[in-house]
Amino acid sequence: MNPNADRPDDESAPTPAYEEVRAPVLVVGAGAAGARTAIELQERGVEPLVVGKRDHGDAHTTWAAGGINAALGSLDPEDDWAIHAADTLNEGHFVNDPEAVELVAKTMPDRIRELDEWGANFDRTEDGKINQRYFGAQSFRRTVFRGDETGRAVLDALVSRAQELEVPYRENVMVTTLLSDGSRVYGAAGFDMEDGRFLLFVADHVVLAAGGFSAVYDRHSSRDDENTGDGPALAYDAGASLLDVEFVKFHPTGMVQLDRYDEDWSGELVTEAVRGEGGRLYNGEGERFMERYSPDQMELDARDVVARAIAQEIREGRGTEAGGVHLDISHRDGSFIRERLPKMYERFQSLGVDMAEDPVVVAPTAHYTMGGVAIDATTGETGVDRLYAVGETAAGVHGANRLGGNSLAETVAIAPYVGRHVAERIAAGETDDELDADARRAAEREYRRLDRLERAEGDVRPRELVAELRETMWEHAGILRDADRLGDGIDRVRELRDRMDDLRVEGDRTGRDFEFAVDLPFMLTAAEATLVAARYRTESRGAHFRDDHPETKAEWRVNVLVERDGSDANVRTRSVAEPSDPVREALAAGYELDYHHLE
Ligand code: FUM
Repeated sequence: MNPNADRPDDESAPTPAYEEVRAPVLVVGAGAAGARTAIELQERGVEPLVVGKRDHGDAHTTWAAGGINAALGSLDPEDDWAIHAADTLNEGHFVNDPEAVELVAKTMPDRIRELDEWGANFDRTEDGKINQRYFGAQSFRRTVFRGDETGRAVLDALVSRAQELEVPYRENVMVTTLLSDGSRVYGAAGFDMEDGRFLLFVADHVVLAAGGFSAVYDRHSSRDDENTGDGPALAYDAGASLLDVEFVKFHPTGMVQLDRYDEDWSGELVTEAVRGEGGRLYNGEGERFMERYSPDQMELDARDVVARAIAQEIREGRGTEAGGVHLDISHRDGSFIRERLPKMYERFQSLGVDMAEDPVVVAPTAHYTMGGVAIDATTGETGVDRLYAVGETAAGVHGANRLGGNSLAETVAIAPYVGRHVAERIAAGETDDELDADARRAAEREYRRLDRLERAEGDVRPRELVAELRETMWEHAGILRDADRLGDGIDRVRELRDRMDDLRVEGDRTGRDFEFAVDLPFMLTAAEATLVAARYRTESRGAHFRDDHPETKAEWRVNVLVERDGSDANVRTRSVAEPSDPVREALAAGYELDYHHLE
C-alpha cells in the first residue's frame, strides 16, 4: 500500500487517536478549482466534502488580480474561441494539450456569464456589457475583470453558490498523504490545523485542487504557506505522473523590497493590469527598454519575454538602485487609476507611493507553475484510479507558458468536466462500503510519522530549510538556467532532504513550525522534479530558458513526464497532439496584439 511506505515507521509505537470522516468524494483545496468541482458534484446529486488549509472563502484564488479570459468580444467583436485557443497555444509554445486548451476557450464565455449571475459582478462598459481589458500576448481585449480584485470576485461568487447548495466544507485541514496502493486511492490522511486532531478521510474518489508550487522559489507572489507543492506531490507519491514541471512562470512585475517598507513585500504581485491599462517600463537610466526587446508588443509581450528583458537590464547594470526597474502609469488620470487598479493604488499609497504621480519599482517573481499532475482534461483522471486533479495542481492547458488571465479561466472551465465525470462514476456504482485494511494501516503509519515529526528535537528549524530551498531554486532553476546550475541544484535539494532528519519542531501540531515541517517534503518533491525535468529539456522554450541551449528545437516539441520509481525520479517524453482545424486556421491567420492601441 502507498508509495510512502518507504518512510521510516515504528510499528511498536502506539497509533495516535484519529477521527474518521466519510465522503463519496473528497475535494482537497477550497479555491476556485475545488469550489467549482464541488458545485458541479452537488448539482448532480453527489455531496462532496471540500477541505481547505485556510478559513472558508480564503484561498490563493483571492490573490489573482488582473482578470479572467473569455472570448466574449464585448469590445472587439472579431475575437472568438479559436483565437483565444490560438493565443494560448502560441504563448504555450505548442506543448499545451490542444484538447484542454480548446475546452477552456470554448466554455469560458458560459462560465463568465454563470459567475456573473452568481455574484461576481464584473466591471461593465458604459453600455452595460461585461468589460474586457488588454493583457499580455492576447490578440484582443479578452480579459474580464473586477477592478484588480478579480480572483476575490470569482471566489466569493463560487463560495456563495456553494453555500446556497449547502456544499459541506471543512476548513483549516491539511491533507498530508493519500491512501494509495500506487494504482488506486482510497482516501487521505491529515490533521485539523486548529485543534491538531488526526483525520482519516475515507473517500471513494479524491479530487486534488490544492494549487501549484511557485512558493518553492525565493521571490514568489504567493503567500508563504501556499503553493508549496501539496497537490502535485500528493499525487506523485500516490503514483501519478508529473508533466511540464520545468515550466515555471516568472511574472515580470513583482514588488521589490524598499527600505521604507517595514513589511516584507518582496516578490508580491504588481498585476499585469497595470501594463494592460497602459503602464510603461523604464530602466534605471530612464530608457523605455522594451523598445529594444519587443517594439511591437512592448510591455505587453509574453511574460517570459518581458521577465527576461527586465532580468537582463538588471544583470547588465541598468536596473534601479533598489535592484529592479520602474513601472510607471502616472501618465494616466488619477481617477482612471483608482477606478481600474484600486487595490494596487491603495497598497502603494499605504506604502507612501502615489501611482498617479510616481513609478513603482518591480522585478520578476515566481508566480505560477504551468506543470503539475498529468491528467485527461475532459475527466481530470490522473492514471491512478479514482484520483483526479484540477486547477494549478494539474498540467496541460498552459504548456511552456501561461497567458495572463488563463489561470482563473482554467479553474472554472475544467472543473465542471471533472465534477460531471466523478458524479457519473458514482452513479455507475463505483463506491465502497468498507475502507481497505491496508489503506487504514497506511493512514495509521502516517499518524505515527506526524506524531514523531511534532516531537522532532534536532537542530534545524523547518523555516531554515524552507529558506535554503527557496534560495537554491532561485539560484539554480530561475529565469536563466544551465546544466551545471541545475545539476548542483539537484544535489543541494537532495542534501536538504537528508537534513530533514535533523529537524526541530517547536510548538505543537497547530503551530507554524509543524505546518512548514509537513510542507517541506512536498516542496522538496516539487523542487527536485522541476530541476530534473529542466536539466532533461536541452532547449529553451517559453518560460524555460537554458543559457547553454538558447534555441527552441523542433524535436523537443514534446512533454516531459517525471514519475516516481521508489525514491528515484524517472523522466521520459510524450508526444503532443495537434489542434483542430478552426484553431489551426486562427494560428495561420497570425492574429497578434497591437500594443500601440494603448498609446
Ligand atoms: O498580473 C496578474 O494580474 C496576473 C494574472 C494572471 O497571472 O493570470
